[in-house]
Amino acid sequence: MQAGFPEVSTIVQEAASCGDHAALEEFRLRWLGKKGEITTLLKSLGTAPPEERAARGAAIHVLKEAAQSAWDTRKVELDQAAEDAALHAGWVDVTAPSMARPLGRLHPITLLLEEVIDHFTGLGFEVASGPEIEDEFHNFDALNIPKDHPARDVWDTFYTDRREIPRTHTSSVQIRAMQTRKPPIRVISPGRVFRNETIDATHHASFNQVEGLLVDRHVTVAHLKHTLETLVHKLMGRRLETRFRPAFYPFVEPGLDLDVQCVFCSGVGCSICKGSGYIELIPGGLVHPKVLASCGLDPDEWQGFAFGMGFDRMVMMRYGIDDIRRLYDGRLQLVRQF
Ligand code: DAH
Repeated sequence: MQAGFPEVSTIVQEAASCGDHAALEEFRLRWLGKKGEITTLLKSLGTAPPEERAARGAAIHVLKEAAQSAWDTRKVELDQAAEDAALHAGWVDVTAPSMARPLGRLHPITLLLEEVIDHFTGLGFEVASGPEIEDEFHNFDALNIPKDHPARDVWDTFYTDRREIPRTHTSSVQIRAMQTRKPPIRVISPGRVFRNETIDATHHASFNQVEGLLVDRHVTVAHLKHTLETLVHKLMGRRLETRFRPAFYPFVEPGLDLDVQCVFCSGVGCSICKGSGYIELIPGGLVHPKVLASCGLDPDEWQGFAFGMGFDRMVMMRYGIDDIRRLYDGRLQLVRQF
């Protein structure tokens, strides 16, 4: 070792004992900085006797290397310690196995809706939509449901302060479709509807309907029947018996309910179909002349059929879900296909 030179071990030890980044920076400045001791030694080389220069230079180089690598080593240690401290402060255990998350999948409502849309677009129907917040004209008046008429009570209607209506059915979209299109018209309109219902296993205040409307010349109940039967067969995957029963809806004449043979007992009669062997599935009928007229269509020239399915009921039947609340509470898990 050169006389007057510091020991390598002293430098290494000094670096190793730096307790934090600030101390390490002081170390760097003291030895390796522009005015540091090793730099000063290097500068003094020029004034050293020529025969000593090579040996002094080599010794200074050793010191410099040692100081630099001692600094590098301590820097890594201090960085690691800081990182560990930060992790512990937040109690993140990076070695813990990650939580198993089951893969998500499409909601049964979406799945079945895709099938329904596919079916109807294949028959030449287009998908139409309307606003969820409606006015009285589209939700009631144009559908031949006059103000103060008892028929209005059937829909447990919410009203906003401004007397707007969270639509009680998708039938309002029939009106919008007839106002904005020229016949022949073929539309379906899926969407949310809202009613002031007490929520239980079979009722919800917000649920889904799919409305259908066809306007053309010479439309009869046979067209409606065929359209709905092919839908039921497609969705239920088998040729279930269907039947029509007369029913009253102000916007159709005649009004009908399509019943489907009970999928649970195959028509024998069970508690779900209340012994009748049939489940009430899709209401519909021929568009009332007054409804056509309220949309500017001449009822002598045009006829139509319409239907409005309660979609949740279909989803529940198809996937074996026995409580409508499961469809909306985010806890729906395994679904079984019928
Ligand atoms: N809008 C009716 C409801 O919510 C369902 C309905 C019945 C729709 C007959 C129709 C129809 O298009 O023709 O109760």
